Amino acid sequence: MTMIERLWIDICPIEAIPARGCRVVHTQQGQIALFRTATGEVFALDNRCPHKGGPLSEGIVHDRQVTCPLHNWVIGLDDGEAKGADKGSVRRYPIRLEDGRVYIDVRLVPVSSAA
Ligand code: FES
Repeated sequence: MTMIERLWIDICPIEAIPARGCRVVHTQQGQIALFRTATGEVFALDNRCPHKGGPLSEGIVHDRQVTCPLHNWVIGLDDGEAKGADKGSVRRYPIRLEDGRVYIDVRLVPVSSAA
């Protein structure tokens, strides 16, 4: 397994992301949507629906999923994958929660690590 050295960037206190809501961060990679679930988990995804680029940050958060506001595709926050019959995925970013603050690593996440 390949070890990945993380480059954590301090983004905001967790309270700055509304429960069952989202906060958008502007980065060199584009807009990243930080979602906070009802149970306090935080996930970071590109703010572009894999269907036609809709703003996922304006969608409805339910459990560990978000429903896109444009055509109602449901995207998993934990895996970035479209659910049901829809096919597609959105890029995810590693998250770290520490001392009530949210950190993300904005470098690309390898889909899998071989050997
Ligand atoms: S752009 Fe998101 S469902 Fe169509």
